[in-house]
Amino acid sequence: MTSVREIFETMEYGPAPESPKPAQAWLDEHDGRFGHFIGGKFTKPSATFEVLDPAMSKHIADVSEGSKKDVDAAVKAARQALPAWQALGGHGRARHLYALARIVQRNSRLLAVLESMDNGKSIRETRDLDIPLVARHFYHHAGWAQLLDTEFAGYHGAGVVGQIIPWNFPLLMLAWKVAPALAAGCTIVIKPAEFTPLTALCFAELAAQAGLPAGVLNVLTGDGDTGAAMVAHDDIDKIAFTGSTEVGRIIRRATAGSGKKLSLELGGKSPFIVFDDADLDSVVEGVVDAIWFNQGQVCCAGSRLLVQEGIADRLYDKLRARMETLRLGSPLDKAVDMGAIVAPVQLERIRTLVEQGKQEGADFWQPTWACPTEGCFYPPTLFTNVAPSSTIAQVEIFGPVLVAMTFRTPSEAVALANNTPYGLAASVWSESINLALDVAPKIKAGVVWINSTNLFDAAAGFGGYRESGFGREGGREGMYEYLKKEVGRSGGREVANGKGAARKSSRTGASSSVSSRASAASSVSSRTSEARVGTSRKRAAELDDADRSPLVDRTAKMYIGGKQARPDSGYSMRIDAHDGRLLGEVGEGNRKDIRNAVEAAHAALGGWSKSTGHARAQILYYIAENLAARRDEFARRLGALTGGDGEAEVDACVERLFTYGAWADKYDGQVHQVPLRGVALAMNEPIGVIGVVCPEEQPLLGFISLVAPAICVGNTVVAVPSESAPLAATDFYQVLETSDVPDGVINIVTGPKDSLAKTLAEHDDVDAVWYFGTAEGVKAVETASAGNMKRTWCESAPRAWMDRGDGEGRAYLREATQVKNIWIPYGE
Ligand code: NAI
Ligand code: MG
Repeated sequence: MTSVREIFETMEYGPAPESPKPAQAWLDEHDGRFGHFIGGKFTKPSATFEVLDPAMSKHIADVSEGSKKDVDAAVKAARQALPAWQALGGHGRARHLYALARIVQRNSRLLAVLESMDNGKSIRETRDLDIPLVARHFYHHAGWAQLLDTEFAGYHGAGVVGQIIPWNFPLLMLAWKVAPALAAGCTIVIKPAEFTPLTALCFAELAAQAGLPAGVLNVLTGDGDTGAAMVAHDDIDKIAFTGSTEVGRIIRRATAGSGKKLSLELGGKSPFIVFDDADLDSVVEGVVDAIWFNQGQVCCAGSRLLVQEGIADRLYDKLRARMETLRLGSPLDKAVDMGAIVAPVQLERIRTLVEQGKQEGADFWQPTWACPTEGCFYPPTLFTNVAPSSTIAQVEIFGPVLVAMTFRTPSEAVALANNTPYGLAASVWSESINLALDVAPKIKAGVVWINSTNLFDAAAGFGGYRESGFGREGGREGMYEYLKKEVGRSGGREVANGKGAARKSSRTGASSSVSSRASAASSVSSRTSEARVGTSRKRAAELDDADRSPLVDRTAKMYIGGKQARPDSGYSMRIDAHDGRLLGEVGEGNRKDIRNAVEAAHAALGGWSKSTGHARAQILYYIAENLAARRDEFARRLGALTGGDGEAEVDACVERLFTYGAWADKYDGQVHQVPLRGVALAMNEPIGVIGVVCPEEQPLLGFISLVAPAICVGNTVVAVPSESAPLAATDFYQVLETSDVPDGVINIVTGPKDSLAKTLAEHDDVDAVWYFGTAEGVKAVETASAGNMKRTWCESAPRAWMDRGDGEGRAYLREATQVKNIWIPYGE
């Protein structure tokens, strides 16, 4: 027999297996075969495929591959359930969400074991993290349902939502998506990943037991084809996706122009930054949580270790020592640190990438203990001496593989951290809070953990920047993903009165303002060469005389980097007054002009985004003051362009500039109450360079209503004004020049709107595109945006720009910002 003394010396753990019985009993109840869960019950299993326990390499169940017909049936059930679910109101839905939280807690052991069996993750994690967080999510969102009417006044549920989730946190990702959708009053069709469908099916059954009305939550199983059929379905109002950037891109393109709302939570290659004053023993445990938690199959895994040079070797030694003590084995053993990789294909992917890392010359290290050879296991792995541009430093490995690099200075750390197309999360370790809080805002990531890592909570939003996707899950910000605000209704009539749209309609005889806008745009594209400008000028002057109307001929320049710029093409476009007379000409912008403007906007971004809200407010007020001083001139110009009430439009512009002057130092973030000793600061950050493609109607007010909120929060813009009536915006640069607007903050490129919009959407250095134009234009912009997964805000329905409810406010500021959650634990 082993003596106590021996146990003390070896510190060996005995096995501590969790019983698979409750999960096995549930599987047996269903004979291990499942249909989809549609309209409150299981369908008959059909076209089944195998579900694997990756730790045992064992077949544990069969589920059905969802066909197009199944998708139809599920969407239909969700659509039918929608009115009653919405009519239930916030409190009614809050009761259901509360019941879901409770039933998850009552069945937590069953769910934890089932999750471990299906996914291979350790029971320690499913029991202590996944499932408690699932319950927490439903509790938290029961609260949002309860407060919906007052906290989200004017908003309503987005409708039927399609949700597609990955396999790394199967039930937790379900909760992240289902809870806010239910709270908002949406009904759901959700598809779990093909590797891990079981807890979703079990949850659906439990939800029905808890009294969730039939059809409110439908679960479809299947692979990417089933997912693609959901994405393509006409009767789904919103798609929410978590998974690879590659599939996210496919979905962005597939939904372009469909009017579906979209949120994407994609991959990452998150930096874990260690400064030389960090507490290295804490760092080591942090690394364990960052990259060996869930076998590294975590979208926000701290997979790039960036270490300050002087401490690198010491830290690597400590890490290797810790890796030797990690325990890897049966996920149902309560004493293991690491379980199995989800599936053989993922294991193969990890092996391939590790081989590539070795070939690229990085130093490879694994602990000396033997990894099980049966089942899908992969040992914790450390690469040091990694070149920042190598494959393993750039590609998401999605396995327990850490790649380490060194830096010398904080600014080098930031540069290295941001040297990735992703932007999901980051972890910063330093005992100097000044240093940590200086670095955190400079990292392009949606979540930053200070002296901690992989902290999640329902109260704090989670989601990425750049190729890590857009949209947030959790917190107040996450609720908006499932809510919609009606626009263009309240004051729709006012826009028509606002003459822009009305005039186009009368000229083209088109009845809807959308199509009239399209034809208005195409009617101005008559191309004239510089050579002809002389004659045009004469004609305009004659007209001026004849009419005694205050038409001023001018070949308006573009405005780039604070300077008036001639179009690269050398061509101009003729701009007519509302009565068809020539009013002037504007440059016909092209790809090159956009490139120059984007460059100028980038150059200005650093300074502008770091300027204080107070400074930006002063400039916005100053613009307003200078515009007000030239009210008559702008009113005349607008009157001539649109035939509308120019004075009213200028007055509205001045007021709008005041609105955003007001907001500039008031669009506060939040301090989220997360359950830890510490705070999560939800900071509203600018997105970067925004391409703003303005509406045709109300050429100055439309321009200002979009540009002002964008710059108010620190973005810089490349604006493409109304194509049919750009002169109001081009005149506006004179106002900008006298208002202390730093060069490059607002750039104006005139010309063929849809083609310039597409160029902006394709540009990798543009971080977001706002487009107000035709339905075809929306589609083109959304499709092209998939290149760097930039955020888009596109509308083809007219807005009531004169209406304050529709034309300004928080909704604009939300589009202009992204929320970064900075977690700051405190205490010794
Ligand atoms: P994936 O992105 O293909 O799978 C995620 C979900 O999307 C699954 O439910 C899948 O069935 C569905 N899907 C696949 N193709 C689709 C399509 N065309 N339309 C709609 N839905 C579709 O990820 P996969 O292949 O399982 O893993 C590959 C790599 O992706 C991983 O190695 C990892 O790097 C990354 N990944 C990242 C995740 C994250 O949370 N950031 C999660 C899962 C994978
Ligand atoms: Mg499985």
